[in-house]
Amino acid sequence: MVKLIGHNKIRTAVFISGTGSNLKNLIKYSNLKKSPIKIFLVISNNPNAKGLSFARKYKIPKKIFFFKKRKSDEKKIIIYLKKNKINLICLAGFMKILSKEFIQNFKGYILNIHPSLLPKYKGLNTHQRVIKNKDRISGCTVHLVNSKLDSGKIVLQKKIKVYKSDTPEKLAKRVLKQEHILYPKAISKLLTNL
Ligand code: GRF
Repeated sequence: MVKLIGHNKIRTAVFISGTGSNLKNLIKYSNLKKSPIKIFLVISNNPNAKGLSFARKYKIPKKIFFFKKRKSDEKKIIIYLKKNKINLICLAGFMKILSKEFIQNFKGYILNIHPSLLPKYKGLNTHQRVIKNKDRISGCTVHLVNSKLDSGKIVLQKKIKVYKSDTPEKLAKRVLKQEHILYPKAISKLLTNL
């Protein structure tokens, strides 16, 4: 169990594969005095991830693991994270699936953000599926990561309206805006029970 002791912030790593708007948002959040986390590392499987520019900008060490051999890369990541005393992992658009063994090492302290109201629409292309099914409500979810895809315990969710005029792109944009509000709230809930 990780505890917040005094003013020490929880040492956090963010895993990304793409644009990194959630990473940028989490960095900004972690820089607030009231934030219970500090981001010490950014990990990516993609050396071309746009989001890595935020690690550069905010001078946060970043490391690439290609995940060509998942087992051995996961072992290396665990060693690297433990060396850096990381207690919390935030997945933010990370497109690789972590093994049961990896998750076990950080049990209860790996979070993911997903652009749907889980348990609906696990996996990819959530917005397309929401629109195809003519759902009137969608949203986003922050959940704990377990060994099944997008299936761990839900920490927080935010609902948003789906309009008749929505395209997957339009809906994605509005959901992402809410993700940026939800992720910090969920972290705060997990770590401080506020
Ligand atoms: C977000 O919609 C997140 O929910 C999903 O992937 C997207 C990542 O966006 N898992 P970004 O890279 O944080 O901008």
